Amino acid sequence: MKIGIDKIGFYAPHLYLDMTKLAETRNVDPDKFTIGIGQEKMAVPPMTQDAVTLAANAALKILDEADKQAIDFVIFGTETGVDSSKSAAVYVHELLGLNPYARAIEVKQACYGATAGIQMAKGHIAMNPESKVLVLGSDIARYGLSTPGEATQGAGAAALLISADPHIMALEDESVYFTADVMDFWRPVYSDEAFADGKLSNEQYIAFFSEIWSRYKEKSGLDLKDFEAITFHLPYTKMGKKALKPVLEEADANIQERLKTNYQVSTGYNRIIGNVYTGSLYLSLLSLLEQQNDLEAGSRIGMFSYGSGAVGEFFTGILQDGFREHLQVKQHHDMFTSRKEVTVPEYEAIFEEKLPTDGSTIKLDINNDPAAICLGGISDDKRQYVNKLQ
Ligand code: COA
Repeated sequence: MKIGIDKIGFYAPHLYLDMTKLAETRNVDPDKFTIGIGQEKMAVPPMTQDAVTLAANAALKILDEADKQAIDFVIFGTETGVDSSKSAAVYVHELLGLNPYARAIEVKQACYGATAGIQMAKGHIAMNPESKVLVLGSDIARYGLSTPGEATQGAGAAALLISADPHIMALEDESVYFTADVMDFWRPVYSDEAFADGKLSNEQYIAFFSEIWSRYKEKSGLDLKDFEAITFHLPYTKMGKKALKPVLEEADANIQERLKTNYQVSTGYNRIIGNVYTGSLYLSLLSLLEQQNDLEAGSRIGMFSYGSGAVGEFFTGILQDGFREHLQVKQHHDMFTSRKEVTVPEYEAIFEEKLPTDGSTIKLDINNDPAAICLGGISDDKRQYVNKLQ
């Protein structure tokens, strides 16, 4: 039985910051951000969006009524969840009106959570072929104003519907995963900004890819020529390029060219959104699927997932006949192009806004947020979510 990605969608908040303007304000050469790091725009989440609403908005765009009834498992990968006990998946389940006979859980391992969710979903569908699983990867990447990580912030959510006989991509069984205790990036429970040893995280990402790729080749008997493209978790778009470069030497010039070209296409959406942590690999996959018009059914796509701390995994999928008809190219294009630019001072003011943590009530103005699903406020220590369509 084939199991894989039946639908895939992405949601980004409606505000963005131009990286050239951020560079100028920080007295940095803009080429460092746009070329050295590889980011053009950064999604800026208003107070009315959090990990729950971003994910719910992403899923809303891809699910029909039949999906909502068939989904019996919601797996929410995030490292910026809103509650230490209640899973973000339960909120999304309610906001979308999903079948009540469902499991709903949150999965955490930095940027790797959604990948763990996909593998769990695959096992669940193998046991229950009629069911569908909604996997979400949703985060707000925050490092702090004027920090080295500032240029690699962003916000957004990927939603993937995993099912039998998928319309977009069948996942293959061979996969290699690897864990090692590394303090390259972490966020203690008392902080709403991440701590990162940036250089170490770059090194570890590259080392994990190299280790996992070698093992994958041994286990699968495949090599670079068997891949149309390899997509990466992209904390910033230069990162995957750094990991791919040494490995490319294994292939002849034509294959190197194909993989380099497709890598470039796979970074397109990430360049204008920034880091979205758990959803980042899937934003890159989406960028490739929606922007590379030469892709053909039957092609094998590699996916490298990396969650600092650290867990990495390389897994693969085969594009299915007619996969293009199940993509939402126009909808994503419209969403990205209708966003509103904010100035650096506006971005800084939004960044500094904080929800109360002392139990007081806040009512947020959701009229300026075009999203269907918003955070309306907090009262009695409970987040008040609003689905404007209900
Ligand atoms: N023109 C073009 N490129 C330039 C440049 C300029 N004027 N100035 C610098 N660069 C290049 C550097 O050569 C470097 O490229 P390289 O990595 O290929 O060598 C790149 O821009 C970044 O410069 P660097 O000095 O290393 O940046 P930094 O110390 O400010 O931090 C990160 C970069 C990614 C470490 C930092 O943003 C960070 O900590 N991010 C969060 C953690 C993260 O995303 N980790 C990734 C793995 S999960």
